[in-house]
Amino acid sequence: MNDYIQYNKQESMMNRFENKVAIVTGAAGGIGSAIAARLASEGATVVVSDVNREAAQVVVEGIKAGGGKAVAIAADIGSGDACRGLVDAVVGQLGRIDVLVNNAGINRRGNLLALSEDDWHTSFAINLDSMFYLCRAVLPIMIENGAGAIVNTASQWGLYPAPGHIAYNVTKAAVASFTQNLARDYAPQNVRVNAVCPGEIHTPMLEAGVLRTGRTIADLDKMVPFGRIGKPEEVAALVAFLASDEAAFMCGSLVEITGAQAVA
Ligand SMILES: NC(=O)c1ccc[n+]([C@@H]2O[C@H](COP(=O)([O-])OP(=O)(O)OC[C@H]3O[C@@H](n4cnc5c(N)ncnc54)[C@H](O)[C@@H]3O)[C@@H](O)[C@H]2O)c1
Repeated sequence: MNDYIQYNKQESMMNRFENKVAIVTGAAGGIGSAIAARLASEGATVVVSDVNREAAQVVVEGIKAGGGKAVAIAADIGSGDACRGLVDAVVGQLGRIDVLVNNAGINRRGNLLALSEDDWHTSFAINLDSMFYLCRAVLPIMIENGAGAIVNTASQWGLYPAPGHIAYNVTKAAVASFTQNLARDYAPQNVRVNAVCPGEIHTPMLEAGVLRTGRTIADLDKMVPFGRIGKPEEVAALVAFLASDEAAFMCGSLVEITGAQAVA
């Protein structure tokens, strides 16, 4: 997973997150570790949160080696108690929360008859319910601060369902609606809520799918009009923009990042 950390202070000459604290969930994964590295490269103190404690620590070490600020706080966000515990721990250790990136997700494959009940409920617990719990814990802090930014990771499959992934697709469609609802309700308190909807991005989650189907990365590249699948850093750049004050008038947006696959 460390391969996905492209931490490089030169990558960004901006300092949009100086003196800010950002929580990134699933931050040991492909997209999450790139988001954590990007926010840290722009001055944020990043809370690298993941169910995989060791991998989260590796991401933190990578950020620190590049001169950034990060702490690892492990949490299995599949339970409300763990979500509340994560937010309490961040407030206890760092005293503030400016940015929440709800990135963690799982992809349980199968159509309705192939899925188990556990696949369905666990997909909702991790992909959607975690956002309910984390946002409920974080919103009062952001409202009290007078500002905050939340970026949720949805998917192009939440907008245009791919076959055979009903649990994943429905949770991601719900993330899109959750984002719009939260944005509408809390814009008056200056909390901006947006979502990214990535297409095919080269991460461990995607590689697991490739292995399972026997397809190659080159096969996936051909499905994208741009001629290649995306990189975690490209999603991270978008998330950083949405989380920053540069996106001051963006609230309730579902931003597709697909190399034009979504319109192919
Ligand atoms: N890779 C893609 O092509 C793609 C496309 C669209 C959307 N997404 C979304 O992007 C996000 C990141 O995906 P990725 O491709 O980097 O996946 P990944 O599997 O590389 O990373 C996911 C991370 O989430 C963590 N995680 C899983 N369950 C957790 C839990 N219960 N509590 C805390 N952490 C947990 C994992 O340990 C892992 O580090 C997901 O929400 C995914 O659905 C990915």
